[in-house]
Amino acid sequence: MVFSGTNSIGFMGCGNMAQAIIKGLIENKVIPAQKIYVSNRSPGKPIKLRDQYGINIANSNEELVEQAQVVVLAMKPQDLLAAIDPLGGIFSEKQIVISLAAGITLNTLKKHLPLLRWIRMMPNTPTLIGKGLVGYFTDQADSYLDTLVEDLFKPLGQTTKLKDEDQFESFMVACSSGVGFVYEMMIYWQDWMIEYGFDEDVAQNLTLETFLGASQLARASGNLTLEELQNRVASKKGVTEAGLQSMRDSEIERSLRVAFEKAGLRNQEMAKLLK
Ligand SMILES: NC(=O)c1ccc[n+]([C@@H]2O[C@H](COP(=O)([O-])OP(=O)(O)OC[C@H]3O[C@@H](n4cnc5c(N)ncnc54)[C@H](OP(=O)(O)O)[C@@H]3O)[C@@H](O)[C@H]2O)c1
Repeated sequence: MVFSGTNSIGFMGCGNMAQAIIKGLIENKVIPAQKIYVSNRSPGKPIKLRDQYGINIANSNEELVEQAQVVVLAMKPQDLLAAIDPLGGIFSEKQIVISLAAGITLNTLKKHLPLLRWIRMMPNTPTLIGKGLVGYFTDQADSYLDTLVEDLFKPLGQTTKLKDEDQFESFMVACSSGVGFVYEMMIYWQDWMIEYGFDEDVAQNLTLETFLGASQLARASGNLTLEELQNRVASKKGVTEAGLQSMRDSEIERSLRVAFEKAGLRNQEMAKLLK
């Protein structure tokens, strides 16, 4: 455990994502509440978090940076650069800063605050229940940073180190936006069952259990590939096979690829705007 002793962590911005991380850190006893600091644009959320968990409130972003060895930038991407620009003289060299923002590249972050040890991180929403994925990228060959990420963010789910920012973007599209894409498909499943007379809550439950069961079966099936698992459901000239053939004929894969590419392009557009 690298994060111990006198180390403390600060969250600049304490909205949904920061709150999910703080909850994971405290409930899993990764860091005691006294070692956690938060600052926020408006005062309501920090007070609520202090009352709930006993964490510390920093009265300004400047104070947060002075108190915390590791600083997590947890505001929306459009607020981030304006928030860090005045802090150049306050960060100490080699302080560790974790950006959760989509669309702000490491180069841009370093242009605004050089000399820091930067990590870009992308958690997905199932981190809210400890079942998430946390992808991260750093250009520093520093195993301390890997251990730090693993120690701090394991309670939220699995952590995955990404080899460059292209891979970071594809992780973001597939695993973070991807949660939204999976819900889109679940909605199609659910609506089809509603058309056949299922009540909405029953249709939703059956849809969730179908996706959950498929995932859990694959997880429990050792080294079987997804294709092998699919073959076990689909017998030659059977019902599943007929549906699968139709899916392939209507090129569902192509539609999904286009959706993934479009999401990636939007990220690149944001990166151009947020410099
Ligand atoms: N939520 C997700 O599922 C998710 C997933 C992956 C990544 N992320 C990333 O995580 C980051 C945070 O997202 P979120 O959903 O947690 O956003 P959020 O709920 O809107 O929280 C952002 C917080 O930042 C505060 N803030 C804004 N400007 C500030 C400043 N200059 N100084 C200090 N605090 C400031 C806001 O304060 P106010 O209370 O005044 O508004 C708000 O509480 C974003 O970069 C997002 O892309 C989120």
